[in-house]
This record gives sequence, C-alpha cells and structure tokens, in this order.
Amino acid sequence: METKELTSLNDLMQAKYDAYAHHTLSYHILVNNEGQDRERSFDVWASQDEIEAFARDGYLVRKALIEGEPLERLRRALDEVEEAEFETADGSRLQGRDWIPRYLFEKHAGFHMLIKFEPLLSVARAVLGPFVRIRQLAARVSYPGQEVQFTRWHHHQPGMAEPTPPFFAFPHKLDCLIYLDELNDANGLLAVAPGTHLDAGEELPLEEHGALAGQEEIRAPAGTCVMLHGNLWHRAMPTGAEGKKRRVLILSYGPTWMRSSPFGEKPENGLMAKVIEEADPATQELLGVGGYQ
Ligand SMILES: [Fe+2]
Repeated sequence: METKELTSLNDLMQAKYDAYAHHTLSYHILVNNEGQDRERSFDVWASQDEIEAFARDGYLVRKALIEGEPLERLRRALDEVEEAEFETADGSRLQGRDWIPRYLFEKHAGFHMLIKFEPLLSVARAVLGPFVRIRQLAARVSYPGQEVQFTRWHHHQPGMAEPTPPFFAFPHKLDCLIYLDELNDANGLLAVAPGTHLDAGEELPLEEHGALAGQEEIRAPAGTCVMLHGNLWHRAMPTGAEGKKRRVLILSYGPTWMRSSPFGEKPENGLMAKVIEEADPATQELLGVGGYQ
C-alpha cells in the first residue's frame, strides 16, 4: 500500500482486501415469477464469527478502513457542503449545536464512491439479507467546545411496542458511522451498550447521561467505520474545547421495502436522479428503486 499512490476507494480496498476475513454467502430465494433472481451470492468482508458477534453485540468496528486520498476526498466533500450551506444560512443556524446535513448523495458527487462500498454493504447483506437499500447518507459535525452537546443515550429506531404483536415486523436497519476525524477523548468518543438492540421495547431513561454497566468506549483513528444496529443504545461524548472538529458520515442501510430516511429536505435539482437513471438494475435497487412487492 505504501509503494503505490492510491487515488480511489476501489484501489484502496483492493490493496486492503487480504487484511480482512472473507466468506461467500449464497442466498437461495423463493420466487413467484419467472425472471426473478433465485440465487444471490455475495463476497462478505467479514468472517462468519464476526457476523455472529455483530448480530449478538449490535455493532462492528472497522478501524481505519478508509485512509489516504479517499479519506481526504470525503473530508473535502463534506467541508464544501458545509461551506455552501453556511453561506446561504443566516448565521444563527447552529446556535452552539452540532450540524447535521442530510441528502449528501444529492449534494456532492464526492460521496458517490460510498454507494457501492463493499466492506460495509456486504456486511449489511450478511445481516439484513439479499434485498438491501441505502436509506440515506447524512453527517454530523461537532465543533470544539460547542454549548449544546448531544450526549445522552439514545438509539435511532423508535416505534417498538409492548406488547409485541405476533406479526410485528421488527424494523432492523443499520447506521454506519464513518469517522472522518479521530475518535478520541478530546474530540468526543463513542460509547455503546452491547446487546441492547435486542431488548425490544425496553427503555433507558431519555435523560440518561451517565455510564452504563457493560458499556464499551470506542477510540479509533480517522477513517474508522462503526456499523450499528439501529436499536443499539449509544451516545457520543462531548467534543471538548481542546478537541478538533469531528466529522462523521452516517450511511444507513435497510431492507429494500423500508422507505428512505424521512429526515431533512431533499434538495431541488439534486445529483441522484441522473445517477439512478443511468445505473444498472442492481444499483437502482440499492438506491431505492424496486426490490420489493
Ligand atoms: Fe446516534
């Protein structure tokens, strides 16, 4: 990897291929109509043990997965969106809070290399099944010493109910946190409560800011990806005044029949209409077109 300049995410991943365990996963699919896929096979960027651990713990960490020029390109893309949106903002937009831009694939082509990002997508297919879509690419930028810090425990998936009805569709989805900056004590680390994604309907107090028994604190270099089940309780620790701006992309996957993320405002004249129109059917499915009944 050091001997050759890596300019694309594909180059980088080819160079890193052997650093990760792999296995082939073949789904045999029951179909009603001719012409539908009966088999789908994937090269999963994880061992079967890692997939089992992800299912049990609710999260999977890939340290420094993205490095070098591709990482720089993602940082630049987010910084450019930030600049463009703040230029048009009235200056009071943040009010000491972090900034959460959405619809990033619509806003900047620099993010499009993440549309078919196999190290994450193949793992999503290993836990969600053969029919997977991207629900959104958003980001969260936290600023050093900002007044309002969103540090309470939370998950991303409300809607569970008690009692659980017999045919309830447990809404499994994944949020992949792609850290563009180091995850450390100064910038604010990530704490997760392993296994809590399986406690359907169980509440933690919403104002809970303290440490939880069994919590894991994640510190990691820039370019680290943390895959979270949407129901996993987690929290980001504050970005201190001594820290640096912390940028994290949030790439969300769900089954193809789940709608896209309802948050944010879709920009007019975004980039994705053309991308979807020109994409092959498999990519269109990944981008939310078809793949459901
Ligand atoms: Fe969160």
